[in-house]
Amino acid sequence: MDKVRVGLVGIGGMGGCHFFNYDSVENAQVVAVCDVREDMAKEKIGERDVKVYTDLKKMLRCEKLDMIDICTPSYLHADMAIACLKKGYHVLCEKPMTLNAKDAKRVLAAAEKTNKNFMVAHVVRFMAPYMYLKDVITSGELGKLIRLDMKRISSMPLWSFEDWMRDVSKSGGVVTDLSIHDFDFVQSVLGAPDKISAIHKEMKDNSEYILTNMFYGDKLITCEGTWYNANIPFSAKYLAVFENGYVELSDKLVKNGEEVSFAKASADAADLGINIGNDNGYLAEIQYFVNCVANGLKTDLVTPTSSAYSVELADTIKKKAQII
Ligand SMILES: NC(=O)c1ccc[n+]([C@@H]2O[C@H](COP(=O)([O-])OP(=O)(O)OC[C@H]3O[C@@H](n4cnc5c(N)ncnc54)[C@H](O)[C@@H]3O)[C@@H](O)[C@H]2O)c1
Repeated sequence: MDKVRVGLVGIGGMGGCHFFNYDSVENAQVVAVCDVREDMAKEKIGERDVKVYTDLKKMLRCEKLDMIDICTPSYLHADMAIACLKKGYHVLCEKPMTLNAKDAKRVLAAAEKTNKNFMVAHVVRFMAPYMYLKDVITSGELGKLIRLDMKRISSMPLWSFEDWMRDVSKSGGVVTDLSIHDFDFVQSVLGAPDKISAIHKEMKDNSEYILTNMFYGDKLITCEGTWYNANIPFSAKYLAVFENGYVELSDKLVKNGEEVSFAKASADAADLGINIGNDNGYLAEIQYFVNCVANGLKTDLVTPTSSAYSVELADTIKKKAQII
C-alpha cells in the first residue's frame, strides 16, 4: 500500500517533535513542510527529500497530499484547519483545537461538512500512564474514584515564534495552552463536570497559574497548571484515590505501592527544548491518525465535538475563576 502523504505546517518546537516521530511511522511520509521561517525549517529537515513552503495556501495548491498536520501557534489553528478541511484533506491539529469556543464551533461546522478526519492531537489521551488511569477508573477494579489531583508544572515557555505563547491573546495563556491537557483528559473519561470553581493568577511578572476544582457529585477533581518565571523542570503528575486503592504518577507510575512499567519513548522528546515529557504518546497519536487515514477509519478516540468541549471548558473555567 502507498504511504500516507503528509504535509506538516509549522516545524517549531512541537512541529519538530511530530516531524521526527514520522520517521517511526512506516506507513507515512512527510513530503512537504510549510513554515514562515524557511531557513530554520530547511535546517531542521536536513538532507531529507521534503519540499519546503512558506505559505500554506501555496502548499495546498501545489502538493498532492493525504493529510495535513497543523503544528502552528494556536491562534492560527481555526483558519488553517478550515482551509485544509475545505480542500478535502484529513487534518491532525495540535491542541488546543482553537483559542476559544466560538472558533471551535467554526471548525466543528467545517469538519461536519466533510467525510475526512479532523483530530486534535490531545496527546495525553495516548500517554501510557493516563491510558492506564482511564482503565482503572472505567473498569472499577479499585472501586469508585473518590478523588483525583492532577498537576502540570512548567516554567514559562520562552522558545516560541515571536514569543506568541506569552501573549495571552494568541495562546490563551496557561489555561488554554497547558491545563487544557488535564481538562481534556478528565472530561474524556468522566464527562462534563457538575460544577466548576477556580483560582487564576493571571499573567504578571512572567508567571501565570490556574487551580481548578471540578465537581462530579461528591467527587472532587483538581487540576493545577503553572507557568513560573522560576526555571522549574517540566512535570506532569497525578494522584487518583479510589475506594480500595490508589494510582500515582510522579517520576514513576505506582498502583498500591507497586511500580507499573510502561514503554518510554525514544530519548528524542527530551532534547527538543520544549516543555514536554519523554513519553511515547506523540508517536502513538500520530500512528493512530495515520492508520485511520490509511484504512478509511474514523478517528473516534478524539472526536471534534469532544475537543471543542475541552476548549469550551477552558473558556468556562477562565470566566468562573476568582482572579488574584
Ligand atoms: N501536545 C503538546 O504537548 C504540546 C507542547 C507544546 C506545544 N503544543 C502546541 O503546538 C502548537 C505549536 O507550538 P510550538 O511550541 O511548536 O510553537 P513554536 O513557536 O515553537 O512553533 C510554531 C511554528 O509555526 C511557524 N509559523 C508561524 N506562523 C506560521 C504560518 N503562518 N505558516 C506556517 N508556519 C508558521 C513558526 O515559524 C514556528 O516554527 C501550539 O498550538 C501549542 O499549543 C503542544
